[in-house]
Amino acid sequence: MTRILVTGATGNIGRMTLQHLLKRVLASDLVGLARDPAKAADLAAKGIEIRQGDYFDQEGLARAFEGIDKVMLVSATAFTDRNTQHDNVIKAARQAGVGHVVFMPIIRKAGSDFHMPQITEEDRFVEERLKASGLVYTLVRHPPFLENIESYSGGAPLEKGVLAPAGTGKAAYASREDLAEAHAVVLSEGGHAYKDYALCGGPAVSFADIAQILSEISGKALPFNVLSDQDYIAQLMSLGLPEPAAAFVLKWVQGVNAGEWDSESGDLEKLLGRKPVTPAEYLRAGHTPRHLETEN
Ligand SMILES: NC(=O)c1ccc[n+]([C@@H]2O[C@H](COP(=O)([O-])OP(=O)(O)OC[C@H]3O[C@@H](n4cnc5c(N)ncnc54)[C@H](OP(=O)(O)O)[C@@H]3O)[C@@H](O)[C@H]2O)c1
Repeated sequence: MTRILVTGATGNIGRMTLQHLLKRVLASDLVGLARDPAKAADLAAKGIEIRQGDYFDQEGLARAFEGIDKVMLVSATAFTDRNTQHDNVIKAARQAGVGHVVFMPIIRKAGSDFHMPQITEEDRFVEERLKASGLVYTLVRHPPFLENIESYSGGAPLEKGVLAPAGTGKAAYASREDLAEAHAVVLSEGGHAYKDYALCGGPAVSFADIAQILSEISGKALPFNVLSDQDYIAQLMSLGLPEPAAAFVLKWVQGVNAGEWDSESGDLEKLLGRKPVTPAEYLRAGHTPRHLETEN
């Protein structure tokens, strides 16, 4: 029996990963980590044990990891001292005798000097710590989520068209559901030790492509209107995003325009055994979030 613990069980990716794992392994082999277990009552009702733990409490994490073979570390929220939190999880995993840790850095293009604040250095830190830890590890690198397309496109593309800084770069976005299913595959199967996967979706699309897709779906012409960086931030703030969050979205968009996430590795398709959901399929299915995501 292999016991698998997924952190962030109360969040999107962690919950979805556990839900996909439930289709592959017994609920009794699954554990979710939550700061507040009451928020994971739906998972507990499905037979998943929920253990309390906070990334800032290494000793508490070590207790929560007792008897666990594999840990899926859902990356900590930006702007919250991610290094301390991730380091605590790795140290606690070693302390508790966990065998294998799976981590989800953001894809970095080979040879690129693009730098994401709160992400690039923090991801490198985890990778180095894992490599030095003696733990078996697997890296399941994420592209930007498909769910972010609306906020990247200025927050209201169906009403105002795509509003974004100039650029023709493309990104191979993937949906959280597809990424979580790939996590479940990696966690429930053998053969993934020390693998480094780039979970690109596809096809990669630019902001002009998104405008084209949304125009086709809505039946009305939705142009790609170029904004200066300053006006882009103002546009996001006009929809309720705080300035630092808007500046963070701008940084992601600059990465898209620089082509940082334009490769289509095929790793996600191989793990899923099918094509990942495309931007057109995702948007056509009505997944155009009506809210702006407020953090990364
Ligand atoms: N690739 C992308 O485009 C992209 C976009 C957004 C985010 N991300 C990254 O992906 C991660 C997961 O995304 P998501 O949508 O699942 O985020 P989410 O819904 O906000 O979930 C984050 C999870 O982490 C938990 N958490 C936060 N701080 C913690 C702590 N100190 N100790 C223990 N657990 C803690 C939260 O618990 P609570 O319920 O207690 O808050 C929640 O369960 C994010 O944290 C971020 O690093 C990537």
